[in-house]
Amino acid sequence: MKSSHGANLFEIQKEYGFNIDEIKDFSSNVNPLGPSPKAIKKLEQNLNKVGVYPDPNYDKLLSSIEKYTNVSRNKILLTSGSTNLISSFISLINPKNAIIFNPSYSEYERELKKINSNIISYDLDKSNDFSINCEKLSKMIKENDVSLVVLTNPNNPTGYAIENEKLESIIKANDCYFMIDETYVEFSDIDKYSAVKLTDKCDNLLVIRSTSKFFAAAGIRLGYGITGNKKLYDDINKHTNLWNINIFADILGSEMFTDTDYHKKVYEFVNREKTKMISTLEKIDCIKVYPSKSNFVLCEILDKRITAHELREQLIPHAFIIRDCASFNNLNEYFFRFCILDEESNNKLLKLIEEILK
Ligand SMILES: Cc1ncc(COP(=O)(O)O)c(C=O)c1O
Repeated sequence: MKSSHGANLFEIQKEYGFNIDEIKDFSSNVNPLGPSPKAIKKLEQNLNKVGVYPDPNYDKLLSSIEKYTNVSRNKILLTSGSTNLISSFISLINPKNAIIFNPSYSEYERELKKINSNIISYDLDKSNDFSINCEKLSKMIKENDVSLVVLTNPNNPTGYAIENEKLESIIKANDCYFMIDETYVEFSDIDKYSAVKLTDKCDNLLVIRSTSKFFAAAGIRLGYGITGNKKLYDDINKHTNLWNINIFADILGSEMFTDTDYHKKVYEFVNREKTKMISTLEKIDCIKVYPSKSNFVLCEILDKRITAHELREQLIPHAFIIRDCASFNNLNEYFFRFCILDEESNNKLLKLIEEILK
């Protein structure tokens, strides 16, 4: 199985002698404006809490997520990073047959392999911008006696997102679980794409959210899940350890979900820069740029003049790291992905790509 994660900055720093702050990491899909300043201030004021146990009920944190998602706390599962919940949910369901989409985030496949599930791959079609065909998906579910469908929305690394209206009909029509990973949903139109409101109507649904990308808080390892299925909620919670969220994640989380000015600022900045970068790259003949509802963009080098690996290598001396997507199932060595960073770095990346591909 191929592994597909962003750059290990610690290794790059060691190998190339960069200071970690000098590296422009276009591979990890983290919001360049950083965490909410209000939340960071709160954290700074509370560093002395390092010796204190967090509130085992996470009352403040849950109130904050309730306000942010408009969902009541008896549907919210707290998790130490969304990867943790992906793992515990998959092992709990223990599906005999599960559908994953390719290309997609690699952890689902790893988790399903751990428990010997039969993995059925839905290979997304690049000629249709990696979109999902609902009839095809329903047919695959029925023909293969599928008990779990794992979907990322928007998808990583393609940037494609499916509308919640379409998801609603597939979820309602099929008697299997759907795990929808919404790690990147805040960069898109949430009302149109998030499946959270479907958890009221569909018992066979778990929505997973992360704070690593939009909230730029990967280091605190905080994620959450939402389900309207009481039994599923209880079964997952049963396996959750006391104090599974550390006190700093608790403090940061309690502030950042309600910092709505910051949410707006991040969304607008990323989408403005993304539009600019896409329109510049679309002018380069040898590159196909795929549409994206997230904070990253997938590109394909059409005339194969250089591989994504070679492009990445040529950018590294400038301390710019992009994602070579050759390791993703159903992509090849000519695909690369970059995320949106600060304006100056974005402009420099565009210039470098133009020069290298000239
Ligand atoms: C689709 C997707 N889900 C989950 C994760 C991991 O998120 P977390 O840091 O919350 O474990 C990533 C990380 O790249 C991802 O791309």
